[in-house]
Amino acid sequence: MAQVIDGRAMARALSDETAARVAALVDRTGQPPALAVVLVGDDPASHVYVRRKISESRRVGITSIEHRLPVDCPQTELLALIDALNADAGVHGILIQLPLPAGIDAALVLDRIDPAKDVDGFHPVNVGRLSTGTGGLVPCTPLGIMKLLDSVIEDYRGLNAVVIGKSNIVGKPVAMLLLEREATVTVTHIETLNLPDIARKADIIVAAAGAPNLVRGYWVRPGAIVIDVGINRITRDDGSTQIVGDCATHELDHAKAVTPVPGGVGPMTIACLLSNTVLAAEKSED
Ligand code: GUN
Repeated sequence: MAQVIDGRAMARALSDETAARVAALVDRTGQPPALAVVLVGDDPASHVYVRRKISESRRVGITSIEHRLPVDCPQTELLALIDALNADAGVHGILIQLPLPAGIDAALVLDRIDPAKDVDGFHPVNVGRLSTGTGGLVPCTPLGIMKLLDSVIEDYRGLNAVVIGKSNIVGKPVAMLLLEREATVTVTHIETLNLPDIARKADIIVAAAGAPNLVRGYWVRPGAIVIDVGINRITRDDGSTQIVGDCATHELDHAKAVTPVPGGVGPMTIACLLSNTVLAAEKSED
């Protein structure tokens, strides 16, 4: 049987460490770290994620301030809010929940965030720092993926890693982090030919395609480690809905280790958002 990596337990442990850092920060400065969460529009999944991010922030002692804007909010209003949050010394982290409504230029909006407060790591300065290995804030899901992998891998040198998906949020940044550890990284995507053959050569598979049950048992060589980043809501024949990942996990008994969905990458993403927020607050002390 494959080892199932318990993302919930690892996220709890990381959040306990974060809570201790928050307490130390409050002792030093008299002020808890503060995270501004901006939600534009009414995407139901975004509402769920934002609620979870805010409640977990509070649990570790981070002050979270939610800003909700209507779906038809003018872009100038969103940019003005970001300017105000950038200028507010009491705000240490700024998170703009994605996706933004059509009509808003997401790249322009992300560019406006002060890179030092960019706890999602989406600003071009942080993207550049990641790709040159020169520090900066690292996107939360890739950071969480590396912590999950670190629990089962000591030395990445020489390992073949196959990333499925080339998004700015997961695929590209996780590829950079794996490269930094000197794994041999192949990034694949929707136009990639012979994907099962490529995946079968992998020691590490990171599946972030947003396609339910894409990665089948025969794609995975015995002893591989499989990180499932997918969160796909599917409707079953009886009309009920279920969240499934990108991997057919029930076919992966021959893997060395797999992450479950739910309870794998998802909780680690939130725990890393909290640690990034504390990191941003700690750096602002200097
Ligand atoms: N939408 C999907 N994933 C993310 C994420 O990691 N951060 C933000 N801000 N929005 C998202």
